[in-house]
Amino acid sequence: MDAQQWDDLADMVDFEPDKSAADIAYDFLKEKVEGRGWTLSDLGCGPGSLTARLGPLFNRVRMIDFSRKMLERAYSEVTGYGVTNVEILQEDITTYVPDVKTDVALACACPPFYRVSDAPKMEIFATKACVLIMPTLVQDSPVRKILKEMGVDVHPSIDAELVEADRSRCHHTESVLFFETREMLTPLVMKNRCIRYTDGSSESVKRLDEIISSMDDDERYYDRWSKLVYWELE
Ligand SMILES: C[S@@+](CC[C@H](N)C(=O)[O-])C[C@H]1O[C@@H](n2cnc3c(N)ncnc32)[C@H](O)[C@@H]1O
Repeated sequence: MDAQQWDDLADMVDFEPDKSAADIAYDFLKEKVEGRGWTLSDLGCGPGSLTARLGPLFNRVRMIDFSRKMLERAYSEVTGYGVTNVEILQEDITTYVPDVKTDVALACACPPFYRVSDAPKMEIFATKACVLIMPTLVQDSPVRKILKEMGVDVHPSIDAELVEADRSRCHHTESVLFFETREMLTPLVMKNRCIRYTDGSSESVKRLDEIISSMDDDERYYDRWSKLVYWELE
């Protein structure tokens, strides 16, 4: 999705500083950063939920997003929440080389950081540590079951487990697995989630359609688990 498409969603996404990911990130980072005067980059900040919650733990937070409307909303939400030690920066984080690094870089549900190979790109924003929060394909995920039936090995995409394994080779890594929500996947959403793990050929798509259409309603339920992965840079 491009910046224009995210602009169009800017009024629709939820500002949730007190729920799930923001809660987990706050509890995890509190003892590591509180009182140290550190700075944070919130990459792909969206409406600012993470910045609003984490702001008090940091000296200053840079909210970076390529959607102007998201940034406008984020600034208004975050300052309305009482967090004012923030600045906004409209940049495409896939190409932007920061003039100033912050101590910590965080990305939550941020599409440019959805592959194992993307994780090192976060490191150019930070000097001390990175925090990546993203979905993880737990064992009972219907997506994993469908892929298994198709004989597809999950490749390094949208899977925090893989990012964690990759990062732990380099530096001290910690992680927290947490439950986000139970949702029912429609056949279309199920297909979209599975298709990116396949080769996308017409045979694969046909096979996917067959498997998905043969599933009972209760097999479409999905417990969405996410993982916070933290790694240190020095
Ligand atoms: C699903 S939202 C997540 C927002 C926020 N991190 C949260 O967890 O609530 C993804 C955000 O990433 C931003 N984004 C996507 N691609 C980007 C890019 N290449 N450069 C900067 N921001 C990007 C979008 O504009 C959107 O605000």
